[in-house]
Amino acid sequence: MEKLVIEGGHCLEGSVNISGAKNAAVAILPASIMASKGVCNLENIPDISDVNCILSIMRDLGATVKRDNDRVIIDNETINTTDACSEDVRQMRASYYLIGALLGRFKKARVEMPGGCSIGVRPIDQHIKGFEALGANVRIEHGAVVAEAERLIGTNIYFDVVSVGATINVMLAATLAEGRTILENAAKEPHVVDVANFLNSMGANIRGAGTDVIKIKGVEALSGCDYSVIPDQIEAGTYMIATAACGGRVTIENIIPKHLESITAKLEEMGVKVIEDGDSITVESDGNLKGVNVKTLPYPGFPTDLQQPMTVLLSIAEGISIVNESIWESRFKHVDELKKMGASIKVENTLAVIEGVKKLGGAKVIATDLRAGAAMIVAGLVADGVTEITHLYHIDRGYPNIELKFNSLGARIRREKN
Ligand code: EPU
Repeated sequence: MEKLVIEGGHCLEGSVNISGAKNAAVAILPASIMASKGVCNLENIPDISDVNCILSIMRDLGATVKRDNDRVIIDNETINTTDACSEDVRQMRASYYLIGALLGRFKKARVEMPGGCSIGVRPIDQHIKGFEALGANVRIEHGAVVAEAERLIGTNIYFDVVSVGATINVMLAATLAEGRTILENAAKEPHVVDVANFLNSMGANIRGAGTDVIKIKGVEALSGCDYSVIPDQIEAGTYMIATAACGGRVTIENIIPKHLESITAKLEEMGVKVIEDGDSITVESDGNLKGVNVKTLPYPGFPTDLQQPMTVLLSIAEGISIVNESIWESRFKHVDELKKMGASIKVENTLAVIEGVKKLGGAKVIATDLRAGAAMIVAGLVADGVTEITHLYHIDRGYPNIELKFNSLGARIRREKN
């Protein structure tokens, strides 16, 4: 097992380049399965283990995949099975997009139930409701979701909850359904828009992505295209929060500032300077931070995926802050780790009441999930002394070259064998 050893207490200075968005890439790669002819030439694909996992699943399905740094070339004409039942499929959340993609193209799919971070109950009832509304028969058989249809026929679907996964998954299947589908109460996250843009580049007819009503006119077939994935809003937000915590001045490059407005607004409320300039943002902090209240919400609200790093920042801000996690019911597992470093936080169900402390102190902690791992890195960077973080496989699922990127800003992080 590996660990990160962080010598804390250094300001961050310089610039960092943000990679392609994990949650867009892990949807766009399976979505490419729907191209029955031609090659997909995808750029800005982040080098993370979740991407490697989905590419390995696609190879198992028969796809021809070539990878060259952040570019992936996929020929999906060679897919020869609609069964995706392997350890890789069970390990990751985004494998559920295989259901929508395979059902759309082949009208059948058998996909092992998805895994992912343990952050609360993660039902897929809204995905299933959407597939059934399009005319599919969906059942759970020996731990796999089996979906089959003679024909998929467009219809109106109103989601009971705002779900990124259900919006994208049902959009995939509806793209190759007959007639018009209208998705209401749809998620508006930037990666929902990115997947819709990618599908349109393959020949789909989707309008309204980015609003809560998405209109899809079914087409007969899709073909390969060239596409570049959007920058990762959550990776960018993590570097913004880390700079605010450590103090210093960092320019975060290759981003879409609009996607970061909810984070920018909170940092400014805390007394941090944020300057937008084209496709970059500069964060400047003297380390004097005011406590604020944060409620996680679907986009354009404050993203749940930055709640955990934000909790670290608030733990060293002056006064009392309250964090209300409204998306996932158990996304405060990092708090026990943070307390080992001297934070003063009380968690009651989905609320965390944080009393800011002057300093955190280095300790041995674990990454309890992906974003909790990023949070512990931020805590280690700001703490006095040395912090050791284990269970790095969580972090490696979603943050490309994280220690290299932080070290280029003046941090001191080493990866060692445990
Ligand atoms: N929900 C349902 N039924 C469903 C689907 C969702 O009740 O059928 C509920 C969930 O329980 C949750 C809420 O709806 O309370 C939102 O869930 P959503 O479906 O939006 O989450 P997801 O698609 O499973 C994606 C990201 C998560 C991110 C959430 C929210 C991927 C692969 N995962 O999950 O990312 O937290 O949206 O923005 O895109 C991460 O990157 O660390 C991560 C966990």
